[in-house]
Parts: sequence; C-alpha cells; structure tokens
Amino acid sequence: MKKLIGIAAAGAMLVALAGCASAGGGTADGPKPLDELVVGFAQVGAESGWRTANTKDIQSAFEEAGIELKFSDAQQKQENQIKAIRSYIQQQVDVIAFSPVVETGWDAVLNEAKAAGIPVVLTDRAVDSKDDSLYVSFLGSDFVEEGKKAGQWVLEEYADATEPVEIIQLEGTTGAAPAIDRAEGFAEVIAENPALEVVASQTGDFTRAGGKQVTEALLKSNPGVDLIYAHNDDMGLGAIEAIEAAGLVPGKDIKIVTVDAVKDGMQALADGKINFIVECSPLLGKQLIEIVKQINDGEAPEKRIITEETTFTQEQAIEALPDRQY
Ligand code: AHR
Repeated sequence: MKKLIGIAAAGAMLVALAGCASAGGGTADGPKPLDELVVGFAQVGAESGWRTANTKDIQSAFEEAGIELKFSDAQQKQENQIKAIRSYIQQQVDVIAFSPVVETGWDAVLNEAKAAGIPVVLTDRAVDSKDDSLYVSFLGSDFVEEGKKAGQWVLEEYADATEPVEIIQLEGTTGAAPAIDRAEGFAEVIAENPALEVVASQTGDFTRAGGKQVTEALLKSNPGVDLIYAHNDDMGLGAIEAIEAAGLVPGKDIKIVTVDAVKDGMQALADGKINFIVECSPLLGKQLIEIVKQINDGEAPEKRIITEETTFTQEQAIEALPDRQY
C-alpha cells in the first residue's frame, strides 16, 4: 500500500492552494487577519494520555495565536470523523485539520473538501490513498521508526539469548497508521535474531482498559512470556495492572517496552515497571499554526513534516520527569 507521504512539486501545490481562494484560505484577496481565520479540527478521540495532551496542546496553540478553532471528538469512530469533516466543509472553514482514526476510506470526503477548495492538513496519522493531492501537508511522527527503536532495544537486551524469547504485542487500533507501522518497524528489527518470537499479538485499541484485558487473557495462554511490546504507554500501563494481578513483577518477571513517553508512562519507567519507552510527541499545536499561517499567506507548506523524538531508559526518565509537561 502506498501512503500519502510523497513530496509534491511546489508549483503544483501553489496552484492547488490558489484554488482554495474562493472557500477561504485568504489566497485570492491576500491573507486574512488571523482573528478572521477559522480552522476545523477532527480529533480521533480521548483514548489515551497522549491524545489528551495532543488535544490540550492544539487548543492552547490556537488560543495563543488568536485563530478560531472548531473542535470535534470522534470517539475513535471513522464515521464520526467523516461527519465532522463534512460539517466543516458546509461551514466553509478556511482549513480542515484531522488525525485519521484509521488509514483507509478517506478519498470520498477528502475529494469533497478539495472540490469545496478547503485545504486539508493531516496531523499525527497518515491516510492511505493513491491521490496525494487530497491534503497539503502531513505533520507527525515516523511510526515505523518508532517501532524500529523499540525493536532495537529488545534486540540489544536479548543479544545473548540462547533460549527462545516469548513476546506479546499489544497493538493499537486495528487499521490505524501507528498500529500498522509500529508493528512493521518492530518486526523488521527483531527478525535479526530468530530467538525473538512474537507469540501473540492483539489489539488493545490504544486504551489502558484494553491493554489490561488483552494482557490478562494472553498471560493465561502464554504463561512463559518474557516481554510485552505495547504500541502505547496506556496499554503498557494496563498490562502492568494485569501482570501484578497475576502475582508477577512487571519490569522484572515480564519486561515491558512502550511508545509515547507521557507522564504516567515515564513514572512507571522511573519506577522500574516499564523497561524502555520510545517517545512520540503529542505537541503538534505550534507547528500546525505555522502550517495554517503559510496556507493563509498563499505559501506551500512542506508536504511531510516529521516530529523530532527520542527514547528513554529508566535513568533518563528519572532525569526528565520533573520537567515533563504532559
Ligand atoms: O497516533 C498516536 C497514537 O495514538 C499514540 O501513540 C497513542 O497513545 C494514541 O492513542
């Protein structure tokens, strides 16, 4: 499948942006004053600590910039996001931004936005479509890279393993870009050592409750599990509860690797209950504002903007925690 992350020619982009003039975007009669701009944002939901931090960051960035934000929460349902986007089209907002709950199934509604001349910005998650003219910019993490970083830690941790290492994977929402890509990157790296084996892989829907429930069930069918790789902190935190309820010690009897590095995850890492976290930054608000301003000025934003991220060991989490904003 080909993702919409190709680089479009700058000229073509400017033509596309110029076409947005009639439905707002400020390109026909020059830029609009910021306090006259309206942006519609269709959020995935409130499934995780990461998402809550992302929502707060976006809302406060718009408030600070003095740009009106229409915000909707899709409760992890694609049909709700599509409805929200259609309503933003009807209201003729200047820009639509959204974080797609799943990768596929967006062409129809994005074509409607294009026909209405409203530029679309993808934040956090990609869409999977053959038509890369359906959005002007995609701002977010490289999820494959995140999966690779998690896999690299596992590879090094078990470099001397002579016995099979049993791994349970807690997947994010089925069909979501971070679930697909984090699994792909992880699988690619751990394939270097045949002792590392994913014995079970199930979705916990990026929630703490989901992570707990799936871990409870999978611990019964896989009593010899050595490590849990969770696609986000919340599912890892749910796994900790399930491991403790089973009378085992998280971080020792069963190691845990997660992605996000939100405060609760970082605290669990500092406490030794999680062993390694790959950062995924939810702080996209300021960069989104810059993209909106560029569109308003008739400039072509970069087609793909990748968020800068790091990784955390226990020592690094202890050091970083006091200044962690989210
Ligand atoms: O798309 C980003 C992912 O979505 C985060 O890792 C996860 O916590 C969230 O729900």
